[in-house]
Amino acid sequence: MTMATSLSPSLLLLFSIALVFIPSAQALSSKYCDAPDKGSTLQVFHVYSPCSPFRASKPVSWEDTILQMESKDQARLQYLASLVARKSIVPIASGRQILQIPTYIVRAQIGTPPQTLLMAMDTSNDAAWVPCSGCEGCSSATLFDATKSTTFKPVPCQSPQCQQVPNPSCGGGACSFNLTYGGSTVAANLSQETLMLAADPVPSYTFGCIGKVTGGSLPPQGLLGLGRGPLSLLSQTQSLYQSTFSYCLPSFKSANFSGSLRLGPIGQPKRIKYTQLLRNPRRSSLYYVNMIGIRVGRRVVDIPPSALAFDPSTGAGTIFDSGTVYTRLVQPAYTAVRDEFRRRVGANLTVTSLGGFDTCYSVPIVAPAVTLLFSGMNVTLPPDNILIHSSAGSTTCLAMAAAPAEGVSSVLNVIANLQQQNHRILFDIPNSRLGVARESCT
Ligand SMILES: *[C@@H]1O[C@H](CO)[C@@H](O)[C@H](O)[C@H]1NC(C)=O
Ligand SMILES: *[C@@H]1O[C@H](CO)[C@@H](O)[C@H](O)[C@H]1NC(C)=O
Ligand SMILES: *[C@@H]1O[C@H](CO)[C@@H](O)[C@H](O)[C@H]1NC(C)=O
Ligand SMILES: *[C@@H]1O[C@H](CO)[C@@H](O)[C@H](O)[C@H]1NC(C)=O
Repeated sequence: MTMATSLSPSLLLLFSIALVFIPSAQALSSKYCDAPDKGSTLQVFHVYSPCSPFRASKPVSWEDTILQMESKDQARLQYLASLVARKSIVPIASGRQILQIPTYIVRAQIGTPPQTLLMAMDTSNDAAWVPCSGCEGCSSATLFDATKSTTFKPVPCQSPQCQQVPNPSCGGGACSFNLTYGGSTVAANLSQETLMLAADPVPSYTFGCIGKVTGGSLPPQGLLGLGRGPLSLLSQTQSLYQSTFSYCLPSFKSANFSGSLRLGPIGQPKRIKYTQLLRNPRRSSLYYVNMIGIRVGRRVVDIPPSALAFDPSTGAGTIFDSGTVYTRLVQPAYTAVRDEFRRRVGANLTVTSLGGFDTCYSVPIVAPAVTLLFSGMNVTLPPDNILIHSSAGSTTCLAMAAAPAEGVSSVLNVIANLQQQNHRILFDIPNSRLGVARESCT
């Protein structure tokens, strides 16, 4: 089955909405949104925040947003499953990642003199691409114009990087490659440019300069993959950032707030709890951790150990992901958490469902604390990270869901970004550990 056939209609709708409402004006325009990035820290905006050019121009109701994000997550899970199932590592975008709708975006400057582009931040992706001017079929209003830059270089066909892209071909000595996605094909030239991330120049950054999209569309922004593969940003900036970065995602309730992406070891929190990062050789870009249990209130709920066990051969285990919105737990784990949650909220209250959520209430509730237990680190989630409220305040849902019943993602627990908001998540790859600390990222 290709992903195209399994995309839900509402996802496609969302996608076309996202593509239609792109203003031609400069991105991130208001005064508030224009605050410059400093040092090695970039502001992180939610893709629907008032600071984002990708927000819908008409307000969308809360329920619609929920449903859209939920359906978006289903595509994300399929994407993650495709990574897990992959047998060899393809560092630059293999077709399936193309139709991703990113959740968080950062600003980057590319070229000399610098051109500002928005890039989606994705911890489960190694790829880097930018829509380039002259692109046929690109939906973006902002394209990178290589002819205006003095530092742009095509990557030669003989270069080792050219071996790492899918379907490489050689046009006039330069390395080109094609990505296929269902009926659509994306053609790009492998290129090098000076990338500025906040105040840090990354010379000769290798990325795909997209020149042609046929039979479909791409998300309009570039992609900044923060995975660990050979062509990823981390691999390309070893000496600058030492494979260390952290982010703090802004609260879903405070649309105007920006979070931050802090690159490199400098300025990272000292007081932070760590758990070990696990490596899945089948997909080294995913950040696996060892989740050993979940506590609801004071009670560690009954989850069969197999539901949490790390298994590189099946892809089972737990990952932290910046691109999934709602945490997914494998069926038995979700059921155990949900049942205890319902019991603690009050067995006499009527439970309803909304979109993909099966535990919603139309009266105010007092939610029990939910604590994720990792080896060496317990993370207690505050209520904002567990519940999602309707704007009118009339409906409140447990903001988690069960993993799909079938396929690779049925065995994958995904700690998603609503659960990560207002925490700093530190990826310390040299020490093979992931840190979590509460932080108000406003
Ligand atoms: C890539 O696509 C172009 C047309 O867009 C085609 O001419 C070329 O042969 C393709 N290359 C590969 C390696 O598939
Ligand atoms: C790659 O670069 C060449 C030379 O500038 C250009 O003719 C071609 O269209 C580019 N291909 C893509 C896919 O951007
Ligand atoms: C967010 O910013 C917009 C304009 O920049 C403003 O109209 C709106 O009131 C702000 N919202 C909040 C919740 O501060
Ligand atoms: C995490 O919580 C569990 C269950 O309450 C407890 O047994 C364990 O000692 C805690 N671990 C840490 C690192 O605090």
